[in-house]
Amino acid sequence: MSSALFRTKNVEQSIQDTEEPEHALRKTLSALDLTVFGVGVIIGTGIFVLTGKVAKENAGPAVSLAFVVAGVVCALAALCYAEFASTVPVAGSAYTFSYATLGELPAWIIGWDLVLEFALGTAVVAVGWSGYIRSLLDNAGWHLPAALSSREGAHGFGFDILAAALVLALTAILVVGVKLSARVTQLVVAVKVTVVLIVIVAGAFFVSGANYRPFIPAPQPVPAGGNLKAPLIQLLFGWAPSNFGVMGIFTAASVVFFAFIGFDIVATAAEETRNPQRDMPRGILGSLFICTALYVAVSIVVTGMQHYSDLSVDAPLADAFKSAGHPWYAGVISFGAAVGLTSVCMILLLGQTRVFFAMSRDGLLPRFFSHVHPRFRTPHRPTILLGVIIAIVAGFTSLSELAELVNIGTLFAFIVVAISVVILRRTRPDLPRSFRTPFVPWVPILSVCASLWLMLNLPAETWLRFAIWLLIGVVVYALYGRSHSRLAEREAASAK
Ligand code: ALA
Repeated sequence: MSSALFRTKNVEQSIQDTEEPEHALRKTLSALDLTVFGVGVIIGTGIFVLTGKVAKENAGPAVSLAFVVAGVVCALAALCYAEFASTVPVAGSAYTFSYATLGELPAWIIGWDLVLEFALGTAVVAVGWSGYIRSLLDNAGWHLPAALSSREGAHGFGFDILAAALVLALTAILVVGVKLSARVTQLVVAVKVTVVLIVIVAGAFFVSGANYRPFIPAPQPVPAGGNLKAPLIQLLFGWAPSNFGVMGIFTAASVVFFAFIGFDIVATAAEETRNPQRDMPRGILGSLFICTALYVAVSIVVTGMQHYSDLSVDAPLADAFKSAGHPWYAGVISFGAAVGLTSVCMILLLGQTRVFFAMSRDGLLPRFFSHVHPRFRTPHRPTILLGVIIAIVAGFTSLSELAELVNIGTLFAFIVVAISVVILRRTRPDLPRSFRTPFVPWVPILSVCASLWLMLNLPAETWLRFAIWLLIGVVVYALYGRSHSRLAEREAASAK
């Protein structure tokens, strides 16, 4: 029994499975495509929306340090992801990696966890996108009825129709094929990066040194009650929950971590990459580096333009320009943000369907989902199923707590990947690795500690929700995956 739960799928088998014609994806992506892909998904709601919220509530101008902290955590994880993606170049990211190393049950848990990360991440970004579109519509004098607008802080029935419509439209594009969506992505990424550069360059002229004082505001106790909302670390050590100060920087880092999610998705496209051995590490590390530099610059500029306590929580980048008396810039930024969030949403959705596809190909989910479309060669069935579910979630939920849930799931996956690097070095030292994580086991160990530290800075209620999701996953595995696994069938066949 326990050996069944920890049976591993060997790496050669994983690669071989992708070569069966009815399950094969097209290999069309280059290193540049991957970097654009990465930047396309990384820059999004995190910088456009969450910066203002965490500066105002948790860190003040030191939010730029929070970006550095989150960036370092991601860079450590990226070094581990890059080794895995260049060794095991098949769809499914951390899921596939852990199937090759830790065993079937841990792999299932990771896959289940990635479903949470990508599906809820897509929903979060779609809701953020809808906010920017509504703000543009408002400028033009058009107002959507409240029942069809945001769920953030809303009462009574409501459905965010714009968010749901975006998810459905992107689902249709993905069904038609990766190449088309990669082209659309390149255009969108160009617009997004331009807007971010406008914020940095134009905004620098409106910075006032007084806004940086104090750079790290003194800690402030949060009102009593609502303990589940306090970071777990504060509860564990019995500290009085507080905002700002040095611990506030870590709380902020655990939230703005959302801004970095996506570089791991580059790894999910390994199977569609022409030369994964060389291009995958370049794509992952390159996009991560570009984004970290931009985030730090944007957050320094924005907190210099407006005092942190005055920043808006809905559209902080655009509103900082409004407060400086430049509504025209604000309009351009809102437009660029809306365009940029479209690409984030699309790539999250793509990563999501690829993980689902990989799990179904392994028989852990019904195989009905792993047939690629005869003409488009895309996994159309999981794309459509998940697209519809995510559209409904995006329509009915508000984003703030969802983002934290996405973060905890992603950090958990980082930990598993880092551990897997060390295990695979021992169990399969012979495998060719075009990219090797430096200083193994120290970098993976550091990566585990850093990810765990950020997880501990997330609210206790996020931990609870995450535990419930994992529990549901274990039940689904026990009832379906364990008996339908393709690996189990192979083992049974070879035992005969
Ligand atoms: N990193 C992406 C964002 O910030 C998910 O929207």
